[in-house]
Amino acid sequence: MLSKKPDLSIDFCGVGFKNPFLLSSSPVSNSAEMVAKSFEAGWSGVVYKTLASGRWPIVHPSPRMNAYHYGSKQLMGLQNVEQISDRPLKDNLLDFLYLKKHYPDHPIVASLMGFSNDDWEYLAKAAEDNGADMLELNFSCPHMTIEGSGHKVGQAFHLLESFTEVVKKAVKIPVMAKMTPNITDITEPAVFAKKGGADAIAAINTIRGISEIGLEDLVPRPNVFGVGAMSGYSGPAVKPIALHFIADLAKCQDLGLPISGIGGIETWVDALEYLLVGAATVQVTTGIIHFGYRIVEDMIEGLSDYLSSRGITRVADLVGQALPHLQETDHFDLARQGVASYDLDRCIGCGQCLIVCNDAGGQALEWNARKRRPRLVEDKCLSCMICSFVCPVHGLISFKEMPKGWKRRETAVMDPSLEAALKMAPLPVDLKR
Ligand SMILES: Cc1cc2nc3c(=O)[nH]c(=O)nc-3n(C[C@H](O)[C@H](O)[C@H](O)COP(=O)(O)O)c2cc1C
Repeated sequence: MLSKKPDLSIDFCGVGFKNPFLLSSSPVSNSAEMVAKSFEAGWSGVVYKTLASGRWPIVHPSPRMNAYHYGSKQLMGLQNVEQISDRPLKDNLLDFLYLKKHYPDHPIVASLMGFSNDDWEYLAKAAEDNGADMLELNFSCPHMTIEGSGHKVGQAFHLLESFTEVVKKAVKIPVMAKMTPNITDITEPAVFAKKGGADAIAAINTIRGISEIGLEDLVPRPNVFGVGAMSGYSGPAVKPIALHFIADLAKCQDLGLPISGIGGIETWVDALEYLLVGAATVQVTTGIIHFGYRIVEDMIEGLSDYLSSRGITRVADLVGQALPHLQETDHFDLARQGVASYDLDRCIGCGQCLIVCNDAGGQALEWNARKRRPRLVEDKCLSCMICSFVCPVHGLISFKEMPKGWKRRETAVMDPSLEAALKMAPLPVDLKR
């Protein structure tokens, strides 16, 4: 345990943040009044709600969000059709000046979306001239009502590259490109952004999704006066998908840029996982929509305690530490095998393990009906571990490795006498190898 408080500060493209926690571009970063409140709560910086020049009118559909509750988990996901900022550019820039005056050590990242080269250049200069410390280029909103913008640009790599280049030529401050997850390989657009001069990558924006369909009116939600649309999905449900995109970016040899990680972060553990797969800063929206700015207090405390408990002095030293352990599946040592292990002294006899093992596992459990206890037939256990996922007693079922050379029994066939009737074409020669 460290006696001194660990250093949570992060240098991101030469911009200093007190901690890795930023507001992401969305309604949570929509005005100086709101952002000031978030800084008071502990957020180190803001990616401001995406600025538009005003040359193309921005109108938000109404209603603009739908909550996806799953079981007892409220707001497992959030779907939105919100557009970029509809506030006059002048008002947003005045907000920058206010925030710079009152919170000079909280960096402002101006998120921008232009609709032509001129538009990008104009916005970039305006943001820099009025105090932005860094830019984030929004190539990723999945539901823009203006055709050919948002994630359409993020999917058109040469366009993304040339817009990045236009912005880079216009400003001196660092430029980050925000990637869409609505793509197979996120490293492709990121490398094009780098070619255009991007200094960092932000990911992810929302995932195109349909969170719910009205069973009475048959309209996908949010129901905008009888019309639903495929639109942006965010929140805890997207975190595993977002983490893989971050890790892909961090591992990409051709990229080598700092990453700001976004998607489903609610707790210090979520944030830490982002850091471990290579994000140097993290950004949050849905977590704040659910719980308010105050969640940052727990994030700061939790991350500090984690660092102290491991004797790590600087959060920066954690960035990417899980990556050496993240390999393709062909790196697995398949000679090592294991099975589930039951601590039956703690068993309450509910039988959940038996049901799932019979219906979805290896049928490896026998059941003592009198004692209401399972017995594992080890060489039938698939080590899928689903029994442990449904067991209500935490830690009762764990994984144990079997000795070298141990073999799992093959799944029995129902009627071996049918073998004579079996018709199978011989394998092609090259498949046999
Ligand atoms: C209502 C709403 C509005 C958003 N508006 C923007 C935006 O204007 N610009 C942008 O780059 N991202 C926007 N986003 C995406 C978020 O910044 C973030 O990338 C995404 O929600 C994933 O993070 P989360 O799971 O923490 O919400 C918006 C998200 C939501 C939910």
